[in-house]
Amino acid sequence: MSGSRWTPALIPPQIGKLAYITGANGGIGYHAALELARAGCAVILACRDRAKADTARSRILAAIPAAAIDIADLDLASLASVHAAAQAFLATGRRLDLLINNAGIMALPQRRTTPDGFELQLGTNHFGHFALTGLLLPALLQAASARIITVSSIAHRGATMDFANLQWDRGYAPWPAYRRTKLANLLFGFELERRLERAQAPAISLVVHPGVSNTNLFAAGPGSAGGMQAKLVSLLLPLVAQSDVQGAWPTLYAATMPEVRDAEPLGVQGGHFYGPDGFREMRGHPVEVRAEARAYDETLARQLWQVSEQLTGVRFPLPS
Ligand SMILES: NC(=O)c1ccc[n+]([C@@H]2O[C@H](COP(=O)([O-])OP(=O)(O)OC[C@H]3O[C@@H](n4cnc5c(N)ncnc54)[C@H](OP(=O)(O)O)[C@@H]3O)[C@@H](O)[C@H]2O)c1
Repeated sequence: MSGSRWTPALIPPQIGKLAYITGANGGIGYHAALELARAGCAVILACRDRAKADTARSRILAAIPAAAIDIADLDLASLASVHAAAQAFLATGRRLDLLINNAGIMALPQRRTTPDGFELQLGTNHFGHFALTGLLLPALLQAASARIITVSSIAHRGATMDFANLQWDRGYAPWPAYRRTKLANLLFGFELERRLERAQAPAISLVVHPGVSNTNLFAAGPGSAGGMQAKLVSLLLPLVAQSDVQGAWPTLYAATMPEVRDAEPLGVQGGHFYGPDGFREMRGHPVEVRAEARAYDETLARQLWQVSEQLTGVRFPLPS
């Protein structure tokens, strides 16, 4: 099926699989966790706030009493936390079928930095997920056919990747900084797929975007400055956005549908990208979509990969 009328009712049984989802206490990550659990997948909610994660776990268990839900403490804005979370997972000896790099922050009004000195949006949305994926790769490579799903955005369109000022030491602007992180998600996801292919690894890497979905992302980011911007966000978002439930559909489609593994990428250049099929990909049912040309630029992707390895200190056990 092409995906255009797809809903989670079509998810095949996921019994025996294990998913690790970042930012699963709310929004898209929560609904991805809920539907995967409904299909029988064991799920780890990897979250920075234990109380929020406990609440999310209780909500899932109230809906699906037999669900297998664990919590992992993970703050993507801290490399120490990413290492600790990965080590804790690897110590369990479990293999991992699904890694969903979902957590994110958007358009913070002021430039902020992580404890490691990264610009906070790039540190959270890209560097944290880059490091986590590299560290969890041994568990993913133990699975018969693992999938790594990275959540990008239509906001990648028009983004720039300026390596001379990658982290906005000069001229920080909230939206361009966010756009760069979402282009980074695509460059990373596609480059990871090429490297997995070269290694003839049994895992695949796919990128998705949720259109425009009514989640806390807007209030936590552009709305956090208060004033008129916060009012506009709360007034306009419900009018233009689809629900957070539907925002999880591209993630769920890429994570579970069998045809995704075998499909040829759209267009000449490689890289699978899934998003909603409606007006300007803002809402709808999941289908394969095209990213902007820059996202398929292999030179740019290799450059970002090198910088990410250098800055995080995490190296993937894969040929470059
Ligand atoms: N909503 C949209 O329209 C839209 C559009 C395009 C792309 N996206 C992407 O979709 C993904 C999910 O966002 P959402 O819309 O579901 O927003 P959301 O409701 O705000 O959820 C974001 C999740 O990320 C978590 N998070 C933030 N910083 C973190 C950190 N340092 N460590 C660990 N977790 C962290 C949040 O945890 P807390 O609750 O503790 O803050 C929350 O669980 C993001 O990657 C976003 O860029 C969303």
